[in-house]
Amino acid sequence: MSEHVLTGISDGVLRITLNRPEKRNALTVSMYSAIADALEQAESSAAIRAVVLGGASDCFTSGNDLADFLNDPPRGEGSPVSRFLAGISDASKPLIAAVTGPAVGVGTTMLLHCDLVYAGTGARFQLPFVNLALVPEAGSSVLLPRLAGHQRAAELLMLGEPFDAEAAYEVGLINRVLPDEEVTELAMAVARKLAAKPPEALRLTKMLLKRTQAEAVREAMRVEGEHFGERLASAEAREAMQAFLERRQPDFSKFG
Ligand code: COA
Repeated sequence: MSEHVLTGISDGVLRITLNRPEKRNALTVSMYSAIADALEQAESSAAIRAVVLGGASDCFTSGNDLADFLNDPPRGEGSPVSRFLAGISDASKPLIAAVTGPAVGVGTTMLLHCDLVYAGTGARFQLPFVNLALVPEAGSSVLLPRLAGHQRAAELLMLGEPFDAEAAYEVGLINRVLPDEEVTELAMAVARKLAAKPPEALRLTKMLLKRTQAEAVREAMRVEGEHFGERLASAEAREAMQAFLERRQPDFSKFG
C-alpha cells in the first residue's frame, strides 16, 4: 500500500482516499498500483460490496503526476496505470466517486467509469490533454461523446478549460451537486445502501448496463494508449510539462 492512498472497510464499503495533498493528490505510479490493488481486493472479497473513491483535503486529484509523466512515463500492458484503468472499467461492484475540489485529467476521465458521482459546489473538472500536447485517455474518446454528444465532448477535450459542477451535471458526468462538506457523507450513505442489496442482482445489473460498450471502451483504451505513449515522448509534451513544473507559460511557437 502507498502512504498516499488510504483504504478502509466498513459496513461492506471499501473507501479509497487519495492522500497526497501537497501535490493536490497527483497520481504517481505507486498510487496507481495501490488503487489497482484495492480494486482487486474489492473484486475478490465477498465482504466488500461497494467502493467509494475520494480525495483528502478538498481535492479529488490533479491527475497524473506531471513529473512522473516526464521522468517515469507509464508503459504498456501490465503497468500500474493499465491495471488501474482495467480496475475501474471492469469493476463488477458499484463504484461511487465523491468529488471535491480539482478533478483534472484522469481525475475527470475516471468518473466516466463510475456508477454514481457526487460533486461539491467547489469541484472543478478539466480535461487538459491537448494543452499538455497529449490525447484523451481512459476510454474518454468514446465515453465522453456518448455521454455528452460530439460537440460538447469536443469543446471539453479540445479547449481543455476547467468547468464547474453545474456544467458537469449538465453533460451527465455527475449525479448530484451538493455542498462540499456533504459529499463524502452522501457517497458513503449511498454506498451502504447498495451494500445491503442482493449482491448478485446488483452485479448483473451493472454488467447489463455496461455490456454493450465494454468492447468499444477496451478498444478505445488500446488505441488511445498507443497515441498517448507516443505523445508523452514528444518534444511538445516535454515543453508543456516542463512549463507547468517551472510555473511558466509553455511556448509551442518552435513546433511545426
Ligand atoms: N503533477 C505534479 N505536481 C502537481 C500536479 C500534477 N498533476 N498538480 C499539482 N501539482 C503540484 C504543483 O506543482 C505544486 O507543487 P509545489 O508546491 O511543489 O510547487 C503543488 O502541487 C500545488 O499545486 P498548485 O498548482 O499550486 O495548486 P492550485 O490549488 O493552485 O491548483 C490545480 C490546483 C490542480 C488546478 C493545478 O495544480 C493544476 O492545474 N495541476 C496540473 C493538472 C494537470 O495538468 N494534470 C495532468 C492532467 S493529464
